[in-house]
Amino acid sequence: MVRIVAGLAGLATLASVSMAQIAFNVVGYPSATTNSFGVSINGQITKLVANETTFPVWTGVVPGTTSAVQYQYVEIDATGAAVKTENFTRTLPKANSTHTYNEFFQRQVTKWELPHIPYTYLATWPSYTKVFNDDEIATIHVTADPSQIAALNANPNLATDIKVDFRWIDHHMIYDQKNITFKTSGKSSKDYQKQAYKFSFDTDYNQTFFSRPNLKLRSEATDPTVMREKIYIDMLNAVGVPTQQGAYVRLFVNNNPFGLYLMVDDIKKSFIKQTVYGGNPNAAIGSLVQMNAPSLTDQADLVYKGATNTSYNPDTYTDVVLGNNTAAAPLTQLIQFMLDLQNFDPVNTTDPIGYWNNTRLDLDGFLRNMACEYLMGSFDAYWMSASNYFLYFNPSLGTSGKWQWLPTDFDGTFGNGFPVSTLSSYETLYNFQPDHPLVSKLIIKNTAINGLFQQILTEIVGTSFKPAGLFPRIATYNQMLSADYLWDTQINRTGPGLVTGYTWADFNNNLDNITKDMQYSVRGWIHDMSQLVATQLNFTINNSTTDRVPPPPKPTKGGDDDVKGGKGGGKKNSALALNAASASGFLTVFVLVGSMIAML
Ligand SMILES: *[C@@H]1O[C@H](CO)[C@@H](O)[C@H](O)[C@H]1NC(C)=O
Ligand SMILES: *[C@@H]1O[C@H](CO)[C@@H](O)[C@H](O)[C@H]1NC(C)=O
Ligand SMILES: *[C@@H]1O[C@H](CO)[C@@H](O)[C@H](O)[C@H]1NC(C)=O
Ligand SMILES: *[C@@H]1O[C@H](CO)[C@@H](O)[C@H](O)[C@H]1NC(C)=O
Ligand SMILES: *[C@@H]1O[C@H](CO)[C@@H](O)[C@H](O)[C@H]1NC(C)=O
Ligand SMILES: *[C@@H]1O[C@H](CO)[C@@H](O)[C@H](O)[C@H]1NC(C)=O
Ligand SMILES: *[C@@H]1O[C@H](CO)[C@@H](O)[C@H](O)[C@H]1NC(C)=O
Ligand SMILES: *[C@@H]1O[C@H](CO)[C@@H](O)[C@H](O)[C@H]1NC(C)=O
Ligand SMILES: *[C@@H]1O[C@H](CO)[C@@H](O)[C@H](O)[C@H]1NC(C)=O
Ligand SMILES: *[C@@H]1O[C@H](CO)[C@@H](O)[C@H](O)[C@H]1NC(C)=O
Ligand SMILES: *[C@@H]1O[C@H](CO)[C@@H](O)[C@H](O)[C@H]1NC(C)=O
Ligand SMILES: *[C@@H]1O[C@H](CO)[C@@H](O)[C@H](O)[C@H]1NC(C)=O
Repeated sequence: MVRIVAGLAGLATLASVSMAQIAFNVVGYPSATTNSFGVSINGQITKLVANETTFPVWTGVVPGTTSAVQYQYVEIDATGAAVKTENFTRTLPKANSTHTYNEFFQRQVTKWELPHIPYTYLATWPSYTKVFNDDEIATIHVTADPSQIAALNANPNLATDIKVDFRWIDHHMIYDQKNITFKTSGKSSKDYQKQAYKFSFDTDYNQTFFSRPNLKLRSEATDPTVMREKIYIDMLNAVGVPTQQGAYVRLFVNNNPFGLYLMVDDIKKSFIKQTVYGGNPNAAIGSLVQMNAPSLTDQADLVYKGATNTSYNPDTYTDVVLGNNTAAAPLTQLIQFMLDLQNFDPVNTTDPIGYWNNTRLDLDGFLRNMACEYLMGSFDAYWMSASNYFLYFNPSLGTSGKWQWLPTDFDGTFGNGFPVSTLSSYETLYNFQPDHPLVSKLIIKNTAINGLFQQILTEIVGTSFKPAGLFPRIATYNQMLSADYLWDTQINRTGPGLVTGYTWADFNNNLDNITKDMQYSVRGWIHDMSQLVATQLNFTINNSTTDRVPPPPKPTKGGDDDVKGGKGGGKKNSALALNAASASGFLTVFVLVGSMIAML
């Protein structure tokens, strides 16, 4: 009898211990095929397992561990001996955590706190999605035919795309999709050995990626800090411009490291639906045109050149969505806009703001975009190069629709490729030869619109675009990207293309010092440009980080097209491992109870 009571007490202890076990999840590519990963707790190594549905995530539970556990991950050889041990100690994210995040081997921090950038104007938030969390660096694990990958990398200009299997791993999810279209991306990006890529999920074949079916992986090859594009996106969000979102990822193809990338939305029809309309499935989609400048003499300057499509190079004005245009004349609506621009008299038009803003152009959005181009030195965009933007005819703006400005490609900013190394007033930034009339006629020559532009500059510089608004976030990005930047620079790439040769020193120095091909440092640019504008427009920059407008309500869950489940369904792998663990804990208890009943 006494023995049984003692046995029951032991059972109670055992039950609480088995409920307290922690599930561990490490993301790792073993350096030898016979190696694997484990977790080391108080010098005791527990082997973790990966299989074809989880690799490269290695998981396992360690009985008897509590949320106070301190641990390190280890790479182990076939005998279970450690060949590589993390040189820091990990703890769980919360006091009540029952599992770890999916944590990349040897990357110390998985989730970051990004300092807030103050809002100048109400942002347009994209629909809810589980991805594009910019406070972590997810992993994209691609499996493909090795010969097709080799061909793609040997000749980045090959127009063909290939099909790959795609696995997404972030802090709590493993998500699989098969047979996804993959290709090299960009124009000048293809000149660099570190290639940029694109993924397209074919929704007609039920291929889904959390309402974001078109992704670009931007190589940031020309930017030693790899954060210029991301800061630009952050600024667009802070000034209420609908834009591509960005999140850093590590890309592996066939278990080979390819690099650190900034994943951004590719601007297609689904971007309009998810970002311009916040996921509203009933919005009527208007005309979308992509603008480029194939040469210095052939720019998307919006100069009227004739009444029909034949006057416009389709590589300069590329139809993406027809809207109300016909396939035979896809630019009809845009040509009318260009004619209206030609006819606009910047001096004598009565109500020039109404001329544009009532029926033709989302004037506020355009001016905010131009303020961003100027403030961040986006020399390869409309103002200076008449390139790298989209115009979207949004039928639901105003009473009869208006054209809306959608910017793209922000790596050439903050002194990366800027034609001169001095900053200037917006009036002398560009000589308008050739003319870029949407800026020269509206912002420079029209007094009323110029007043709006100066007010926008004052509000943006006063709120967001200033050292106090941006430097804290920049410092955090620098820390967050450090380990991954070092990892990226150690990758031995093959294939044609330029190697910029940026180093760890450049990665850090170019925040404050001019390095190699850069005309400016990132923080130096922000400091000097904000000061220049404040001096010209006669205001003082304060260090407040208060929002000028309240932050927009974040989108709520539910609109995400994968809630109903693509293949893989966005499983929380750590939670699954935990359920398995609790089940086995219960099993242990059950067996013990069974044997004690037998003893009775
Ligand atoms: C792979 O491992 C996961 C987690 O440990 C498990 O849920 C899954 O059933 C395993 N799959 C296979 C095919 O063994
Ligand atoms: C751990 O190792 C990395 C290089 O792998 C090094 O940069 C870092 O300083 C080390 N950390 C500690 C705490 O020793
Ligand atoms: C853990 O604690 C937080 C509060 O710190 C609470 O919001 C959360 O629901 C708790 N989670 C569990 C699994 O108990
Ligand atoms: C892969 O997807 C394409 C469409 O993108 C489809 O035509 C093809 O049949 C698919 N192949 C497989 C094996 O599912
Ligand atoms: C996509 O899914 C739907 C519903 O599950 C199914 O009816 C349809 O056949 C699938 N389409 C393809 C191309 O697999
Ligand atoms: C197409 O034109 C009609 C008539 O002008 C208009 O009501 C509708 O909003 C337009 N739709 C789009 C998508 O532009
Ligand atoms: C504006 O009107 C004035 C007088 O009404 C005229 O002299 C001038 O040429 C006009 N400017 C333009 C650009 O047409
Ligand atoms: C432009 O029109 C919109 C309504 O479509 C309005 O909210 C906005 O204030 C107008 N902007 C200016 C500068 O008048
Ligand atoms: C890259 O190549 C160098 C020289 O061949 C070698 O020392 C290094 O280990 C390689 N790095 C990786 C990550 O394979
Ligand atoms: C960066 O510039 C600062 C002064 O602006 C200077 O003190 C520092 O030595 C420079 N660092 C490098 C690595 O050039
Ligand atoms: C700047 O503003 C102050 C106060 O509003 C005014 O006294 C001063 O004359 C202005 N200076 C210039 C150059 O406009
Ligand atoms: C803002 O902070 C900077 C750096 O800390 C300091 O040099 C400057 O004087 C401050 N400006 C104001 C207006 O407080």
